[in-house]
Order: sequence, then C-alpha cells, then structure tokens
Amino acid sequence: MSPPGGPETSPQETSSQEIPAAQTCPAEIAPPRISSPETRPADTPRRETLPPEIFPPQTTRPETSPPGSSSGRGEPLILIQDLWKTYTLGAVEIHALRGVDLTIYPNEYVAIMGPSGSGKSTLMNLIGCLDTPTQGSYYLGGRKVSDMNDDELARIRNREIGFVFQTFNLLARATALRNVELPLIYRGLPARERREHAMRALEEVELTSRANHKPNELSGGQRQRVAIARALVTRPRLLLADEPTGNLDSGTSAEIMDLFDKLHREGNTVVLVTHERDIAVHARRVVTIHDGKVSSDARTDTRAKAGAHAGCDAKAESVAGTQSDAGAKSVAGAQPVVEAQSVAGEGALPAPR
Ligand SMILES: Nc1ncnc2c1ncn2[C@@H]1O[C@H](COP(=O)(O)OP(=O)(O)O)[C@@H](O)[C@H]1O
Ligand SMILES: [Mg+2]
Repeated sequence: MSPPGGPETSPQETSSQEIPAAQTCPAEIAPPRISSPETRPADTPRRETLPPEIFPPQTTRPETSPPGSSSGRGEPLILIQDLWKTYTLGAVEIHALRGVDLTIYPNEYVAIMGPSGSGKSTLMNLIGCLDTPTQGSYYLGGRKVSDMNDDELARIRNREIGFVFQTFNLLARATALRNVELPLIYRGLPARERREHAMRALEEVELTSRANHKPNELSGGQRQRVAIARALVTRPRLLLADEPTGNLDSGTSAEIMDLFDKLHREGNTVVLVTHERDIAVHARRVVTIHDGKVSSDARTDTRAKAGAHAGCDAKAESVAGTQSDAGAKSVAGAQPVVEAQSVAGEGALPAPR
C-alpha cells in the first residue's frame, strides 16, 4: 500500500507561493512533466510551464469530427486512434506510447493500470491535454485535440477537463476556497460567482467547514478533496486522476475512492490511473497498459463489484488478475469490453461551461 501522506509533508506545498495573477503560471498546479516514471514531476515544478486545467483560452479553431465515431451508444467522449508518444533524450528515443487505441463513452468509470514505466501517465497527460502526441489522433467530445496548439489545449483543459494529481498540487498560501476558485479566476468569472461555485464544489467533497483553511492545516485526504473540488468546479466533462491515492494511507484512500464512486454515480465520466488493485476495482472497466500499448481492456462484473463492496479481502479476490502483469483472460470476474457499459447518471452536475 502507498505510504501515508502526513498533513505537513508535501514539498510542493511548503514552497513560497502567492495567488497568481491571471497571466502568470502557478507552477504548483502545473502539469506533471515526467522526468522519470515514478518520480512525480510536481517535486520539481517548472515555472515556465502553462498551468494545467486553468489557463485562460486564447484562440479557437474549426473542429473536425472523428471518422467512424458513431455507435449505438452515441458519440464517444474520448476517441484515441494509434496514439504514439516518443520522448527524445539526446540521441535516445523513448517510445512511451506505441499505438494506443482507446474509446471511452460519457459516464464511464475507467481505471488504467500497468507496471511502472508502461506509459500510464503519458497517456493520461495526453488525454488531459497536458501534452501532445507524436503521432495518431485524439478526439475529445468530437473535437480533434491532437493537432491543437498550446492555447487551444489550455482552453480545452479549462472548459472540459478536471485533473487530480497524486501530490494534490495546491497553492500552499491559499485557502481551500481560494484554491478551488482558481480555475474560475482564470476563466474571468466575477468574484461572487466564483465563490458560490467554489463553495458548492467544496460542499460536494464535504469540506465546507475547512473552506478557510490552508493546505498545511488539512490532512492528506482533505487536501486531495480540495484538489477534487478544484477539478470539479468548472463542471468538466471529464474527470481525470493520476494515482489520486498514491500519497494516502489505505483508510483515506478508501474515502477518496468513495468520493470518486459518488461522482461517477452522479453522472461524471471518471478515468483514473492506479497500480493498486483495490483502487482499480472501484472502476467499471480496467484498461491495462504494457510497454506503451493496451494489453487488455476488461469490464468488471457485478459479482466483482459486490465483492469489492463487501470488504478488502473480497476486493483483492474479486480483481485477482487485474495486476499489471496479468492479461485480460486472467481478470477474475471481468469480461473483455465489447461495448462500453452504460451507466445511468443520477442528476449530472450542473455545468457552468
Ligand atoms: N518527459 C519525459 N522525458 C523522457 N522520457 C519520459 C518522459 N516522461 C516519461 N518518460 C518515459 O516514458 C516511459 C513511460 O513513462 P510514464 O508514462 O511516466 O509511465 P508510468 O506512468 O506508467 O509509470 C518511461 O520509460 C519513462 O521513463
Ligand atoms: Mg505514472
């Protein structure tokens, strides 16, 4: 299990920070540019990087429809075709993704698993429009984002995507409320409106009583709930989380996963990366990545879900084989995905898009 994250321990939250002006980039909430597979780049934030989900849009461009995107389930929210990402380090080329195909429909709940270095974060960063592919296409909600420039991607991030990071990436000197307001500040919303939306988002994560607390006055789980509220406040179409429980103890992880479960039930599309089976079992579908390619894509069945809710042991048993080195066939209680599962949303969140 992951090591517990104490309330005072996150390095990126103890550095000196001010609430950013609209034109500056708060590095603490910048995308995690990866320097090595398991070292989160939030440890070494880059000031020159654009802020992730919140930088104000600059330009738009005509949108193109994805080919063959229609199906009985309507339009896919995510349509990825033959996606490649190659990093070049001097003379060395690292093929982090080698032709990924992936389709995700609205209201799905998907876990992406795989061994360290298999390309999970690279894929999430592409899905989250934090980075661009070397080759291949990615359509989000019918719009081709794989060819967009930085400004266009920033707009998509601000409008369509909420991203939750393993290390929370909160501004240390800002209150929980202010942290949650940030995406709306970049969007240029008036103060009163911002505050209302932020308080509502904090309410959804049951943290209104801590609205005026700063991150170092909050537990790890509370910090992550603030980060989730920040991801939700723009009412994104897509909620992404890269190892969201990676810095939390098991009890707190369970609370955070209950929260993701609730958000999914309420109609949100949730995609999360995890290497822990008892986290992945919360999802309705498990996509496994090996060496930059999808090696299995399976849906967890009702029996597995029932086991998951019965307790920890049942959880582990019900997803035996969803480990990163297991293929689709070995996923106990899971079936290959032929058509993505339809999940009835109960009162999808109102969207100030
Ligand atoms: N910015 C980068 N520059 C060079 N190589 C990278 C970069 N980010 C990731 N990689 C490499 O790409 C591969 C996939 O990394 P990553 O997506 O972080 O894997 P995972 O999240 O599954 O651990 C690894 O070999 C990693 O070292
Ligand atoms: Mg990773």
